[in-house]
Amino acid sequence: MAQQVLLRGIIMNISVIGAGYVGLVTAACLADSGFNVICADCDREKIENLKKCIMPIYEPGLESIIKRCADKKLLKFTTETSEAVQFSDAVFICVGTPEMDDGSADISQILNVSREIAQNLNGYKLIINKSTVPAGTCRRIKAEVGNMLGRLDEESEFDIVSNPEFLREGRAVEDFIRPERIIIGVESARAEEMMRRIYHKQIQLGIPFISTGFETSEMIKYASNAFLASKISFINEIANMCERCGADIKIVSKAMGMDSRIGPEFLNPGPGFGGSCLPKDLKALVCMGKYLGYTPEMVKSTIKVNDRQKKLVLRKIRKAVRRLKNKTITVLGVSFKPETDDVRESPAVEVIKGLLKGGAAVKVYDPRALPKFKKEYHSLDIDYCTGKYMACINSDCIVIMTEWKEFTNIDFSILKAIVKTPVIIDMRNILDPEQARKAGFRYHGIGTGRT
Ligand SMILES: NC(=O)c1ccc[n+]([C@@H]2O[C@H](COP(=O)([O-])OP(=O)(O)OC[C@H]3O[C@@H](n4cnc5c(N)ncnc54)[C@H](O)[C@@H]3O)[C@@H](O)[C@H]2O)c1
Repeated sequence: MAQQVLLRGIIMNISVIGAGYVGLVTAACLADSGFNVICADCDREKIENLKKCIMPIYEPGLESIIKRCADKKLLKFTTETSEAVQFSDAVFICVGTPEMDDGSADISQILNVSREIAQNLNGYKLIINKSTVPAGTCRRIKAEVGNMLGRLDEESEFDIVSNPEFLREGRAVEDFIRPERIIIGVESARAEEMMRRIYHKQIQLGIPFISTGFETSEMIKYASNAFLASKISFINEIANMCERCGADIKIVSKAMGMDSRIGPEFLNPGPGFGGSCLPKDLKALVCMGKYLGYTPEMVKSTIKVNDRQKKLVLRKIRKAVRRLKNKTITVLGVSFKPETDDVRESPAVEVIKGLLKGGAAVKVYDPRALPKFKKEYHSLDIDYCTGKYMACINSDCIVIMTEWKEFTNIDFSILKAIVKTPVIIDMRNILDPEQARKAGFRYHGIGTGRT
């Protein structure tokens, strides 16, 4: 069993507000490293299910940690933020910061939670914001909590910490246990000391722990996401040019990645970036620029290139099947990346909507994300399939949208026998073009060969 973490001689209690991708992983991993943890969420159904160990999300390794910690009574779930706050020495805020109509980040969930925390302070609390927020938000949380305490005539002490999260869905547990860096924005030595205790395991592993101010910490998160997104848009542009000049993007990106100043990650072309973070965070950064009187041109272009890239998939399909009406198109993969069931802002959504609009019948398969997709897009009239081959029966065109491992070992001879027309559009370049062509398929990758 993990050694329990003490604060002034007693086990340190932590609460996590928000049981989404970030909150649930944070709560589970902290409980597993020896803290007493309560995780609160206003979604009653989610909490009732979690109490029965029914997972609201798919994240490799998470379920077993939650089961283990719940059995040991190190991890509890509640719908009452008040209960969670009163129980804890440190409160993590892990609620959503969705996009507003103008593209800016909606921080209302954070401010609501901050006020609830203030109303329930029963002694010193460390209030840690993990949600992705524009620079200046932690200062706002501090003011909000201070104002609420003033109204309540309370004198409880508190500190605010900015602690942006960098986990990658699909590898979130691993990323929490062994992140590449821990960033904190703090204004007091007491807060920093508590954060060092919370992350004592990671610090022992030698993981860099960077302590800075609120705004710098908040900016690190947006800057990191904007940079990653710009790599994706950049390589997509180069891939599109490769197609026109007959160059091979696979070799171009591999050779580029060998330059240590560039690095190999995020250099695979595809249908554009999606997910719950990059699209909204880039727009929020542009809006932050407006507020600051500065236009981040590169960030704006990254968004523009990405929007264009999503449309390119439909153009490729149209070109391959000539007209969409009465054609059956198979979409393999609806999550925005493999190893997650998250379909938020997934490029597959726009493609499927475009196919339906053009009069095609759409069959989809995804190893994990279909339940979430069905729930989110229940009005779409599509055929949900239980396996990759089933989804390809009678297909006029197979489109690979997500690079799930099980799509890499597709058997072309089986496929050839069940499709109506042997056409593959591989938006992730995961199949072997030669094998596909040998089996009789018209194969179109991205950025490989003239189109
Ligand atoms: N998902 C990621 O990969 C990731 C990675 C890094 C950072 N982030 C950031 O972390 C934040 C959370 O992201 P997420 O993907 O976990 O979101 P999510 O939508 O999966 O989860 C947010 C949860 O907060 C709950 N919630 C909202 N208001 C609440 C309240 N007042 N009281 C209690 N619970 C409340 C919601 O019910 C929901 O379950 C966002 O700012 C996001 O940008 C996400």
